[in-house]
Amino acid sequence: MTPSHRVIELRSDTEQYDIHVGQGVIVSLGTQLAEFLPGRKAFLLSHPGLLQLYGDAVTASLQEAGFTVETCSIPEGETTKTLQTAADLFTRLAQCGADRQSVLCAFGGGVVGDIGGFVAATYMRGIPFVQIPTTLLAMVDSSIGGKTGVNHDLGKNLIGAFYPPRAVCTDITFLGSLPEREYRCGLSEIIKAGVIDDVELFAFIEAHVEAIRQRDAQVLTTLIERAIAVKVRVVQEDPTEQGIRAILNFGHTIGHALEAATAYEQYSHGEAVAIGMALVARLSEALDYCTPAVCNRLYAVLEALELPVTYTDIDSQDLLEVMAHDKKTVNGVMRFILLQDIGSVVYRQEVPLDTLQGLLAQYA
Ligand SMILES: NC(=O)c1ccc[n+]([C@@H]2O[C@H](COP(=O)([O-])OP(=O)(O)OC[C@H]3O[C@@H](n4cnc5c(N)ncnc54)[C@H](O)[C@@H]3O)[C@@H](O)[C@H]2O)c1
Ligand SMILES: [Zn+2]
Repeated sequence: MTPSHRVIELRSDTEQYDIHVGQGVIVSLGTQLAEFLPGRKAFLLSHPGLLQLYGDAVTASLQEAGFTVETCSIPEGETTKTLQTAADLFTRLAQCGADRQSVLCAFGGGVVGDIGGFVAATYMRGIPFVQIPTTLLAMVDSSIGGKTGVNHDLGKNLIGAFYPPRAVCTDITFLGSLPEREYRCGLSEIIKAGVIDDVELFAFIEAHVEAIRQRDAQVLTTLIERAIAVKVRVVQEDPTEQGIRAILNFGHTIGHALEAATAYEQYSHGEAVAIGMALVARLSEALDYCTPAVCNRLYAVLEALELPVTYTDIDSQDLLEVMAHDKKTVNGVMRFILLQDIGSVVYRQEVPLDTLQGLLAQYA
């Protein structure tokens, strides 16, 4: 193990696995997996660009531990996350003789992780699956918690399964090549983790803005470990999303509506969530859940990391229309996760749509 190699354990009734975090942990991926996987056939699912950058290193790690490696490459982008891509992958697995002893390694961002997990969950009723996240968002969010799936014409992530990975290998060095916008997208989720459950993480972000912008490896390691710890704590408490796990959706109700109202073209997920968090903080302030100072603290961090706090080019009425049609809206009342203090939120508070309307008129 390299000096920065840390292991975060996730143990719930339905999920048990280790998350390996650090710089260079990919080198020991093969030996880690060989310890508990009986088979020696690995399928490496990724995108052409990522395979070009890191395919040899990942393959070498697996081969050195005795695995044979078949590479499966799928095009980049959300439009790839479909049943058709899954069907093509089933064909490929079957043609290459994949069996229940084989392991599917998803090497990429949330798109590869979600579709890889879904294919692993359903091929032969389930084969071992490993997450190797390469985006900041995937490292702190989508690789943990066992949600897998694909999109359908009638809804995002409409088809899927809870299927935990057998291990997660989070090598921070992959972030060196991540495009700036994708990087900021992940930062938004890390800020969210601090806001909902870790005031020290939030204070650490406040104190290290410049190092975060520079992608300082040491600082990033701390950020990622702490954000993972937040997600692990929440998922352990509520593995199948019956209650407390809802707090992970802080800022997401407005965020999702913004993404949908702009046909997923204007804002990245992280940008939409940043705006959602800012507006829901103002909503919390307006409803006397938190002080203006708490709200301002969140705004300051979002702005320092160049994340948006308000939207432009979209009519607030259109946004409200989308929210009114959201399945979480009942009789004109929506449920929100509201901010009490940094590190503390209250979930499923009912807010009338017209209160929201007044707020958007003021802040958006
Ligand atoms: N399962 C969950 O719990 C969960 C949670 C949140 C989001 N998601 C899903 O995750 C998806 C979004 O994931 P994402 O934001 O990681 O996007 P993504 O997987 O589309 O990756 C973004 C882009 O970055 C590129 N890329 C990835 N790593 C790179 C690297 N290290 N260097 C250079 N380029 C790199 C990819 O090729 C891609 O073009 C969505 O489909 C969303 O629904 C799932
Ligand atoms: Zn999110």
